[in-house]
Amino acid sequence: MPLLDLRTSTRTFGASSRLAAVREHAATFLRHMTPARAANILRAETARLRGRTTVRAMPFFLKVETTGVCNLDCAWCTAGRRERGEAERPIGSMSRESFDRILDETGRYLLRINLYGFGEPLLLPETFGMIREASSRNIGVAVSSNMNLHSPTLARDILDSGLELLILSCHGATPESVRRFMGGRADMRLALARTAELVRERDRRGSRYPGVHWQYCVTGFNEGEMEAARGLARETGVDAIRFIRPTYPPDAGDEWYSSLFPRRSATASDFGGRSCAWPWRGAYVNWDGGVLPCCRGELFPANDFGNVLEEPFRSIWNGPRYRECRKLIGAPGRYVPTLPVLCSTCPVLGFRPARLRDGG
Ligand SMILES: C[S@@+](CC[C@H](N)C(=O)[O-])C[C@H]1O[C@@H](n2cnc3c(N)ncnc32)[C@H](O)[C@@H]1O
Ligand code: SF4
Ligand code: SF4
Repeated sequence: MPLLDLRTSTRTFGASSRLAAVREHAATFLRHMTPARAANILRAETARLRGRTTVRAMPFFLKVETTGVCNLDCAWCTAGRRERGEAERPIGSMSRESFDRILDETGRYLLRINLYGFGEPLLLPETFGMIREASSRNIGVAVSSNMNLHSPTLARDILDSGLELLILSCHGATPESVRRFMGGRADMRLALARTAELVRERDRRGSRYPGVHWQYCVTGFNEGEMEAARGLARETGVDAIRFIRPTYPPDAGDEWYSSLFPRRSATASDFGGRSCAWPWRGAYVNWDGGVLPCCRGELFPANDFGNVLEEPFRSIWNGPRYRECRKLIGAPGRYVPTLPVLCSTCPVLGFRPARLRDGG
C-alpha cells in the first residue's frame, strides 16, 4: 500500500487544478478535525497500511446521493437514462429521516460529505436541510451541481445551509459544446449567471463559504475552449477552475478523448500504483441506502455491499464483501475473490476496463 496515497479517481490537468483540489481537501480536514476524528483516521490508515481486511475505524469521508433525479442529460451519465431495466436501480430520492439515520451512525467520524451521486442534488428541496444538519455536526459538505436551476431563492438557500464547497459542472465554454456534453436542455448562460449571483451574495455577506470551483471535463471537442473558460471563470468570480479527465465506457468515440486525456489514460497505465484507499477511508451511499465502496457500478443494486437503512453501517463496513474487496486490493491479480465484488474489474487496480453488469 502506498504510504501517502492522495490519489482520487479524479484526474486533473495542470498544477493550478491539482493545487486547488489539494488545498481544498487540506482546509476541510483542518477545519473539521476533532480528537475523535484524528484517532479514527489514525486507526483507519494503520489498517490500510497493514492491509487489514477488518477495520476497527469508521470511514471519514462519505459520498451520499440525495437524489437520482436530474434535469439534464449528460452523455455517459446514468442519471440521464430515463428508462431503467429490471435489474437496474430505480430513480428516487433519499428522505431526510434516512439521511439523519446515516449521520447518527457515522457523523462523529466524518470530516466531509460529498452530497451528490448521479442526479442533481439541488433539485431536491430536502438537500438544503441535509446540508444544514451535517454542517451543524461540524461536517464539511460539498455539492456538485449543474446550476441549471431557476429557484429565485437559490443563492440564499445555499448560503443559509452552511455549504462548504460548491462544484459547478459545466463542460465547455460555448453553448454548443456544453449541450453536446450535457444534453440539449443544458443552459450554460443560466448556470454561470446563477453561480455569479451566488458568489456576489457570498461576498456581500463577507463569507468565505461556500468555495466555488468550476469543474470542466476535457474532451476532444471542448479542449480548444479551455482558455475561454478561464476567462469566463474570472468573470463569474469562481475561486478555481479544474480541468478533469472524464470517464466513459470503453465504446465512447474518439471525439470524447482530448490530447490532455487520451484514450489510454482511461486504462491501468494511468494508475501506476494499482491500489485504492476507498475501502478504508470512505463509502458511497445510494439514495435508497445501498452501500458501495465508491460510485462505480452504482446502477445495479446487486453490486451493493449492504443497505444502511436495513442493517447497521458497521456490519456492512466489515461484512463479507468489504473484507473480500480489501483482500483483493491487497493482492490484485493474485487474490481471486469468492464473492462478486466490483473491484475485481476495476482499472484502478490494473484490471481491464469492463462493462459493468450486476453482480460486479
Ligand atoms: C454525476 S454528477 C452529479 C452531480 C450534478 N448533477 C453535476 O453534474 O454536477 C457528479 C460529478 O460527475 C462529474 N461528471 C459528469 N460526467 C462525467 C464523466 N463522463 N466523467 C467524469 N465525471 C463526470 C460532474 O462534473 C459532477 O461533478
Ligand atoms: S447534470 Fe449531473 S447528474 Fe445530471 S446528467 Fe449531468 S452529470 Fe448526470
Ligand atoms: S471499484 Fe474498488 S478498487 Fe475500484 S475505485 Fe472503487 S473501491 Fe477502488
